[in-house]
Amino acid sequence: MTNSRNSLTPEPNNNQPYVIGILMRYSVMAIAVVLFVVGMVTVNWWLIIIAGAAVYVGVYDIFQSKHSILANYPIAGHIRYFLEDFRPEIRQYLIEDEKEQVPFSRQQRSMVYQRAKNISDTNAFGTLDNLYQGGKEWFLQSAASQPALDKDFRITVGGKDCSQPYNMSVFNISAMSFGSLSANAILALNQGAKLGGFTHDTGEGAISPYHRRFGGDLIWELGTGYFGCRNAQGNFDPDLFAEQAADPQVKMIEIKISQGAKPGKGGVLPAEKITQEIADTRRIPMGEDCISPSSHNAFSTPRELVGFWQQLRELSGGKPVGFKLCIGQPWQFMAIVKAMIEMDNYPDFIVVDGAEGGTGAAPVEFMDSIGMPLVDGLLLVHNTLVGAGIRDKIKVGASGKIVSGFDIARMLALGADWCNSARGFMFAVGCIQARSCHTNTCPTGVATQDPYRQQALDVPSKSQRVANFHQNTLKSLGSIVSAVGLAHPKDLKPYHIARRLEDGQIKLLSKYYYYTDSGALLDGTARSEVFNQMWIMADPDSFAANNDALIAYNQGSRDVGKNTDANKVANEIADADTANSQPVETTTTSSSVTESAQLSDSNIPLTATSELSKVAKVDTVDEGTVIEATEATEATEVIQVTNADKATTDIIKSETPHN
Ligand SMILES: Cc1cc2nc3c(=O)[nH]c(=O)nc-3n(C[C@H](O)[C@H](O)[C@H](O)COP(=O)(O)O)c2cc1C
Repeated sequence: MTNSRNSLTPEPNNNQPYVIGILMRYSVMAIAVVLFVVGMVTVNWWLIIIAGAAVYVGVYDIFQSKHSILANYPIAGHIRYFLEDFRPEIRQYLIEDEKEQVPFSRQQRSMVYQRAKNISDTNAFGTLDNLYQGGKEWFLQSAASQPALDKDFRITVGGKDCSQPYNMSVFNISAMSFGSLSANAILALNQGAKLGGFTHDTGEGAISPYHRRFGGDLIWELGTGYFGCRNAQGNFDPDLFAEQAADPQVKMIEIKISQGAKPGKGGVLPAEKITQEIADTRRIPMGEDCISPSSHNAFSTPRELVGFWQQLRELSGGKPVGFKLCIGQPWQFMAIVKAMIEMDNYPDFIVVDGAEGGTGAAPVEFMDSIGMPLVDGLLLVHNTLVGAGIRDKIKVGASGKIVSGFDIARMLALGADWCNSARGFMFAVGCIQARSCHTNTCPTGVATQDPYRQQALDVPSKSQRVANFHQNTLKSLGSIVSAVGLAHPKDLKPYHIARRLEDGQIKLLSKYYYYTDSGALLDGTARSEVFNQMWIMADPDSFAANNDALIAYNQGSRDVGKNTDANKVANEIADADTANSQPVETTTTSSSVTESAQLSDSNIPLTATSELSKVAKVDTVDEGTVIEATEATEATEVIQVTNADKATTDIIKSETPHN
């Protein structure tokens, strides 16, 4: 009988391959049955029990309907689930390459473990890196390097409206809530912060009793659920906030706008997971799902956000208040900056979280494909603040896969004032990157609410490890800073780092990335035109893009014969040519400019900010340093930029012939 492809119940085909297939699928079951029979005949109780249990499992597998693999491969199918369960561990112990980042490499994790245990973190025999590979970066050491005397690097956070500025370490524990982390993990982190003199961010799950027991400095984070300071309707409650913020252990207040791993996504803590302890901490009812909305209801415009942080500042008695975000639509951040300037009220700090940041639980689409990576987000924030002339009023923190002295030094060189780490400190308390934080089955008791699992996490020894990791990482940072010939990491600059491009050439990061001139946004003279345009689109009274303003800006530019794009970029190329009769400058990658620099009214690609900048003249201070340019110069580049007005052809073409 021929099988119809459309038949819902096709007749089994009794030809040979099918018969062999059936024999193979049921062979383990058949062996179990045979062994059971042999056991019965020989009255071997061990065989009867073991083979009998296997036969029982096999019969169950055949008749269950949930797992087709078990129905088709009774008994043997369980091997798949066993291996699947232990895949991360098997991969980690047997297969994983030393450098493969999943998301942290074995080398990175070993480094944290060694530093946390206070054992030697040196390696032998030379680098494992290919130093000639595109994307490789390195610090340029000084011939006059000096050992750093003080390695407890600190900065002061607090602007003109803050009456209780906070002197904080340049390396701190990033936001992770009680709820996503176990009570013992929170205890160990907070005691570690206390021992090491650094700060511990509560995460949005409010201040739990475990945050308070050892008295380590806290940054209290307020998410969209206002946990710990919400009324019965889930709205912000000023009295409750003031009561908790007055605690001297709370050093700063952080409004969480978004988080890199899941920006723009709210969350639900299901009712069955809510213990009495979590309910008391968050001030939520038992027996109901706990919802974190995807955005705040305490403010709905940039101007209202400024009002909100000022309210928090006053209610907390003048403590530093700031916000954390992963950059999404850049004009929204610029709109906040415009509101600050207009209201003459600035946050004391901004934490930029990168899309590569960690999370306890998030959909893969959000982790992989939403939100700006850290370097791009940090540069956007830094450049906007510089361009608006207010960079000196606000401290900027950075987070996203930062675990080593190099990672911190690089971020500070690029423009950050301090760094936070979440998963780095999780490793310090014993996390093995099993990636099961969302399942409540964390094998090390770090990210679980299972009381038995978390008992395995020994608070006294793990808190010492947290302090050791912090101290040894700062020691490593200090060594880098002194190798570069400086006394404090705040003096690190992007021209202290070199990067190899894909074509083999070398470029300083000061030239590789775009750095705007102070105040340039205010008079529309940012060398990267896309910055000027996004600034125009930013509206302090709305998070929506002001497209009308952009169209008017472009129209105005044409009317006065000031083709903002084409003429400017052409001038920049000319400037860059003159400036680059000196060393250092190299060429851009033509394809990236072509792809990324297409401007339209409502959709300005961000990568254009850095890519366009590569044809722009950069501060001459960067040029005095070493490194030879090798090949073609920007003179070979042809760039056509049209206005972003819909009436025009929104196309930028760039060709960079490389010889
Ligand atoms: C288990 C876990 C829980 C987290 N919980 C929060 C949170 O409550 N609030 C928040 O702003 N970020 C939270 N984050 C994100 C981190 O604070 C930080 O933004 C990001 O992880 C930085 O990346 P890192 O883990 O590479 O250091 C969490 C991260 C992890 C790994």
